[in-house]
Amino acid sequence: MHSGTETASMTPIDETSQMTSERRPVAPGSRETVFTVADAGVTYSGKLALADVSLEIYRNHVTAFIGPSGCGKSTFIRCFNRMNDLIPGAAVLGKVLYQDEDLYGKNVDPVQVRRLIGMVFQKPNPFVKSIYENVAYGPRVLGMKKDLDERVERSLRQAALWDEVKDRLKSSGLGLSGGQQQRLCIARALAVEPDVLLMDEPCSALDPIATAKIEDLMHELKQDYTIVIVTHNLQQAARVADMTAFFSVKLREDGGRTGILVEYDETNTIFTRPKDERTEGYVTGRFG
Ligand SMILES: Nc1ncnc2c1ncn2[C@@H]1O[C@H](COP(=O)(O)OP(=O)(O)O)[C@@H](O)[C@H]1O
Ligand SMILES: [Mg+2]
Repeated sequence: MHSGTETASMTPIDETSQMTSERRPVAPGSRETVFTVADAGVTYSGKLALADVSLEIYRNHVTAFIGPSGCGKSTFIRCFNRMNDLIPGAAVLGKVLYQDEDLYGKNVDPVQVRRLIGMVFQKPNPFVKSIYENVAYGPRVLGMKKDLDERVERSLRQAALWDEVKDRLKSSGLGLSGGQQQRLCIARALAVEPDVLLMDEPCSALDPIATAKIEDLMHELKQDYTIVIVTHNLQQAARVADMTAFFSVKLREDGGRTGILVEYDETNTIFTRPKDERTEGYVTGRFG
């Protein structure tokens, strides 16, 4: 699909290793592990916000994190691209492996991690720049300057936004509707050829039509990418996710609250025959 030295597969995140993107289709129904999380947790200023999470994330799957507010979904998703590094007082415990390599290894460059593992946030946050420059920004910073016009177009097409903006690429990204802005942010993330896309409640600021567009897009994008999404919308998880992890909160002895992973399984199992009664209570709306 790509050529030259600018592709993800040529750029290890650990200079001493070959931690590279291996974006390629996986046979339907098969599972190839992208991330292995073992006993992971996060503390903020020493307080345990999330504890003992172990799970695997699979390639070309959409994986959803659900659970009540404050159970650590955002905290957890930030572990996958070292965004917690940017939060003062945050520390990540346990292991997060990306293709069998420690994401927190001492030779790993967090900037390279965030290129391979892109993120889209709750509130669309386009730069105060033109539509074109929003998408071109990442490639420019990373020196991917060859065929920039094609790269911008390809990214906007992948984000299902091209037809709506192709005649006004020089207009401000801020002039777009909320749903278009979020697709612009997705295009911006795709422009640097990531392997994984993390999305933390990407539709919570959008109306139902814009939400449906993003959900359709997730179905498309998982052919080429691995997607992890936080959502408070259970119907959305049921619609888009192959795998679902349900998180909850337990009370600590010091009175604080710590997020825990209750159950992780195929989405259908989580919603129709969960093994844990706490999951059942949540997905049937009796708790949460
Ligand atoms: N930047 C932060 N500094 C300190 N505590 C935080 C920070 N972000 C989240 N927390 C705490 O961690 C817990 C989990 O929060 P969060 O991951 O945002 O949950 P969720 O996304 O499931 O609503 C909460 O108790 C929250 O107050
Ligand atoms: Mg959150």
